Amino acid sequence: MDTFYTDHWKTIEPERLSRYEQLFGFRPEQEPFIEALALSSATSVLDFGCGPGFMAEEIASRTTGRVVGVDLNKAFISGAQSRNTKRNLDFFHLADDALPDEVGRVDRVFIKNVLEYVPDLESTIASLHGTLDEAGQMVVIDSDWGFVLVEPWGKIRTDRFFEAASAAFREPHIGRKLPGLLTSAGFEDVNVKVIAGVDLLGRGVSVLQNMVSYIQEFGTMGEAELQAHMSELEAAQMNGSFMFILPQFVVTATKGNTNV
Ligand SMILES: C[S@@+](CC[C@H](N)C(=O)[O-])C[C@H]1O[C@@H](n2cnc3c(N)ncnc32)[C@H](O)[C@@H]1O
Repeated sequence: MDTFYTDHWKTIEPERLSRYEQLFGFRPEQEPFIEALALSSATSVLDFGCGPGFMAEEIASRTTGRVVGVDLNKAFISGAQSRNTKRNLDFFHLADDALPDEVGRVDRVFIKNVLEYVPDLESTIASLHGTLDEAGQMVVIDSDWGFVLVEPWGKIRTDRFFEAASAAFREPHIGRKLPGLLTSAGFEDVNVKVIAGVDLLGRGVSVLQNMVSYIQEFGTMGEAELQAHMSELEAAQMNGSFMFILPQFVVTATKGNTNV
């Protein structure tokens, strides 16, 4: 349980793996995340924690620069490698904490929905800072599980639900901590935007269903209560009262010319 937040990414059972491949596909509303990379002046991009690689693939289709995706999970990387048809795109498995030598130095680091899982935030951010060229840019995208709206659950039940799932994350409130973490690591020009899409149709239910599977594994909420919550969401989708908002913190920062 103590290291579940990282272990559950290392080995993923096939059913969950294919669910993630659906969940992590690129969607047009994610365009602002790629815009934040300012690709017109980029020559090389590292997508750290690229998962199945769909975002890296999208980035590679918008730049002639080199794009490298790395991830902790072997199955994600072998799937991404076998789908890859782009000459400027490579994927590598992260066998340990160190970035593979093939990554080299880059002028952009992209890291989306990953930092909430890393065992040591300061050392991961320091390593990404180290891989950037001087004046290189970091784009971090993360949610913050204390800042989610699920209607008709209301705030108290929503907080209780995410509290029950919290062992799945090393830092469930990562969004609000990003500016401080990046500044301490020596980044400059730290800028934060919050992008909050409103889901009225029920796409967010797959995110909540994923949380349910964690909660069932932890036993932190009774099965009857969980099922009641999920049935309520189903009814809400039918009667139009469903709403899901999971804001994304989009944080950009520049590597200065001083080492901290
Ligand atoms: C929520 S998924 C996000 C995947 C992808 N970035 C996206 O947004 O579609 C989190 C990813 O982070 C990876 N991950 C978790 N801990 C990691 C670590 N310490 N180093 C590298 N990748 C890690 C997982 O294997 C998983 O692919």
